[in-house]
Amino acid sequence: MLADQRIKNETLRAKLMSAEDAAALIANGDTIGMSGFTGSGYPKAVPQALAARIEGEHAKGNPFKVRIWTGASTGPELDGALAKADGIEFRLPYNSDPIAREKINNGEMNYFDMHLSQVAPMAWQGFLGPLDVAVVEISGITAGGDLIPSSSIGNNKTWLDTADKIILEVNEWQSEMLDGMHDIYYGTALPPHRKPIPLVKPDDRIGQQHFRVDPSKVVAVVQTSTPDRNLPFAKPDAVANAIAGHLLDFFAHEVARGRLPENLLPLQSGVGNVTNAVLSGLMEAPYEDMTSFTEVVQDGMLDLLEAGKLRMASATAFSLSPDAAEHFNTNAAFFRDKLVLRPQEISNHPELVRRLGCIAMNGLIEADIYGNVNSTCVMGSRIQNGIGGSGDFARNAYVSIFMTPSTAKGGAISAIVPQASHVDHIAQDVQVIVTEQGLADLRGLSPRQRAEVIIENCAHPDYRPMLRDYYKRALAGSYGKHAPSLPGQSLSWHQRFIDTGDMRG
Ligand code: COA
Repeated sequence: MLADQRIKNETLRAKLMSAEDAAALIANGDTIGMSGFTGSGYPKAVPQALAARIEGEHAKGNPFKVRIWTGASTGPELDGALAKADGIEFRLPYNSDPIAREKINNGEMNYFDMHLSQVAPMAWQGFLGPLDVAVVEISGITAGGDLIPSSSIGNNKTWLDTADKIILEVNEWQSEMLDGMHDIYYGTALPPHRKPIPLVKPDDRIGQQHFRVDPSKVVAVVQTSTPDRNLPFAKPDAVANAIAGHLLDFFAHEVARGRLPENLLPLQSGVGNVTNAVLSGLMEAPYEDMTSFTEVVQDGMLDLLEAGKLRMASATAFSLSPDAAEHFNTNAAFFRDKLVLRPQEISNHPELVRRLGCIAMNGLIEADIYGNVNSTCVMGSRIQNGIGGSGDFARNAYVSIFMTPSTAKGGAISAIVPQASHVDHIAQDVQVIVTEQGLADLRGLSPRQRAEVIIENCAHPDYRPMLRDYYKRALAGSYGKHAPSLPGQSLSWHQRFIDTGDMRG
């Protein structure tokens, strides 16, 4: 790469160095704010060089661990490499890397799983402690020294503003056409100085195209040319297509009753294959002029934009398959004015999700018969990924939808259970549950009404008799009849009080 093509500012160009030299500027115990969101826009060279350095220090018997903050998940060159080197002491706010997941679940790494909209405000409020270093991927530097963002925005604005020192990775693989697609809002403030965020349509631009940076804080600039971690989406199977079909019937029903406009409301689509299948289903549906106010742009959204069905999409990052990423890079001129990438505190902001009336569509691990949803912890204790943005959207959406196959692990586990082993989304935040079996519209239903609809519409037929049996026994034996549950299977700790009147015994 010719440095002066992408790095037009002389002061910052003078700070060019190798990833190894840049990694040497990071100290044991540092807290590092890295870019990266769902595998896009994360630094690729410095984290690997840092991992190698950590391994070297460990080999010499020296301790070396860092604390890592990001936007969301990253890639094997960051989370994978650092976790493998046993170099991460603490991680926030979202992880999907298998090696890091294993360390977290073995109790070898502390993980703070949090709402993605809250990361930047909490960092500014000082709740998370000081930030020593920012390591941020960008796609270029202007002559004036502003930074042209990469394929994700995440929390980069906050890391650049609050870190003591900054390391920049300029990635030539990223399309130069990204310049102009970003909308960086600098108007957020802490209470009591907060003001309404002036965004009333997903299309609105309320900020600036580039990050500002204090050049005196920049200690290193590193050049890279490495693709984002883009994973292929599975071709929608019968289960995903059935889920999409039920959801599209629901939309038609809501439009027919005047509860949704003809072009629907801004769509939020969570991560994963099922949500991508729903987007594919929308290609055949009669809706035009749709918009999306969401966290990530997936393959299905590019298809909808090209077909002219989707007018525009607002997000904080791309989450594309390798083919779609290549397609985007060669056709970036077409997509440029139809996509806006914003900081995640804006893309996921509860105020905006509520104002715009988003249709939230997210995945789940298990839902109980009352509609409480577990998105994160298998058997209540083993983290899969994290809550991500699902809570930002679910609580504030116009309609909050959760989708899942009715069973997991080849049918061995029911996704519908008597009582969720861990709750991320309370029943009040869950309005619709969809499986390939059918859809449960829970709006306006009491817990007992919910139980019947969820068991009959969403549970797999193999598990319905067991769930009916549980519910029948719960109705007969429960302490209260509002949301019947069987003591011993759920509220064992409090059972002592019911039995003896004494919690201490
Ligand atoms: N019991 C045990 N394991 C389960 C399970 C259950 N009830 N349900 C799913 N799993 C396992 C799957 O078997 C799979 O494991 P594997 O990788 O070992 O095969 C894994 O969890 C992921 O499930 P998968 O079927 O691939 O679903 P998915 O890709 O649709 O992901 C979530 C589902 C819940 C993990 C995912 O949606 C998520 O992380 N959600 C939280 C964050 C979020 O919603 N972000 C979007 C906000 S914008």
